[in-house]
Amino acid sequence: MTTIQLQNLRKEFDDVVAVDGIDLTIEDGEFLVIVGPSGCGKSTTLRLLAGLEQATAGRIGMDDRDVTSTEPKNRNVAMVFQNYALYPHMTGRRNITFGMKSAGAFTDDEIDQRVEEAAKTLDIADLLDRKPEAMSGGERQRIALGRAIVRDPDAFLMDEPLSNLDAKLRIQMRAELTRLHAELETTTVYVTHDQTEAMTLGERVVVMNDGRLMQVDSPQVLYDFPENRFVAEFIGDPAMNMIDVTVEDGTAIHDGFEIPLPGAGTDAGTPGTDPIPERSGDRHDAVLGVRPEDFYLAQESPDLGDATFTATVDVTEPLGDSLLVHCSVGDAVFKIQAEPRTELQSGDEITVASDPERLHLFDPETGEARYHSATARRSPERIERAPRE
Ligand SMILES: Nc1ncnc2c1ncn2[C@@H]1O[C@H](COP(=O)(O)OP(=O)(O)OP(=O)(O)O)[C@@H](O)[C@H]1O
Ligand SMILES: [Mg+2]
Repeated sequence: MTTIQLQNLRKEFDDVVAVDGIDLTIEDGEFLVIVGPSGCGKSTTLRLLAGLEQATAGRIGMDDRDVTSTEPKNRNVAMVFQNYALYPHMTGRRNITFGMKSAGAFTDDEIDQRVEEAAKTLDIADLLDRKPEAMSGGERQRIALGRAIVRDPDAFLMDEPLSNLDAKLRIQMRAELTRLHAELETTTVYVTHDQTEAMTLGERVVVMNDGRLMQVDSPQVLYDFPENRFVAEFIGDPAMNMIDVTVEDGTAIHDGFEIPLPGAGTDAGTPGTDPIPERSGDRHDAVLGVRPEDFYLAQESPDLGDATFTATVDVTEPLGDSLLVHCSVGDAVFKIQAEPRTELQSGDEITVASDPERLHLFDPETGEARYHSATARRSPERIERAPRE
């Protein structure tokens, strides 16, 4: 049983505020991913959890214990790093067990038995007598994971553990981590700057920027209901299009188009202006957000209705499974993810439709979401687990 609570957690380095007041509870057995751009404070947050950095302010709790000032070795967490941090002159087995004996918490028999089990779980029996120089990147990372799991920690803290691996191995190890977590059910905090990795691994995902939490939700809710422009543009690839519009009479209006906003959508709850003014004559500025995959060439999706407009193709990028069409209308530039093998040239005029269920409005000043046209907001799903002994 390990629940981790961060309360108003803050870390300053000289004049840099790396972590700027974080409140977050990580549930027992949860796989939580922290994602954000370089320098946003992900590693610092993890290092605070591990006790490798001292908080400037705030509190870290593990279950009922206040561990804010507890030494790393007394926190019973295991950290896995990007660079594996293996000792080059030791075998896989020695790397895994190093320090366990001197810690005195385990007998020799216990250590052997745990190594056996870990070797089975991670399929590394062949590597135990090899030195790291004779292992591939993926094999080294498995040994590093083995070192973490033999300690049977209360929590795993993983800092970009897969980013030194090539793309194919990364995808394979991602699936293995998911399997490992299903088997061990150990509370895990996983840091990455890769939003695809975050979306595929996380039961919940924390999007961080400038030392702050921008949103904490399940991957699908982050994608469907981003609470602000930052999350909207960070999650999803290619990024969501953002176009300055005026909202009037339930319609997003631009020089080059008018897109009706379904009135039954979700008010994103930002205090202030009514997201879609009902009364005619009321109008306000907003930023319209539409993902490239939610724009269509009208000929491909005739069922999306007649709310279409004309745009000009600037360039096209074949992605294999789709064609990314960069286009413009008036002063607005945006991207459409179209069917592959669509014949288009620069300068072509195209008729564009958008999915009325997938429109977003953001406040032009604060970037807070004001409205999502989808209605079915689901709260993050937690997987119910049987209690462990
Ligand atoms: N020991 C340190 N001394 C001074 N500044 C630091 C120190 N460690 C981190 N920082 C600063 O704190 C901020 C957050 O750093 P952190 O390493 O947590 O970012 P990150 O999100 O892990 O980034 P990346 O994706 O590049 O690993 C950065 O501005 C960084 O320069
Ligand atoms: Mg980092």
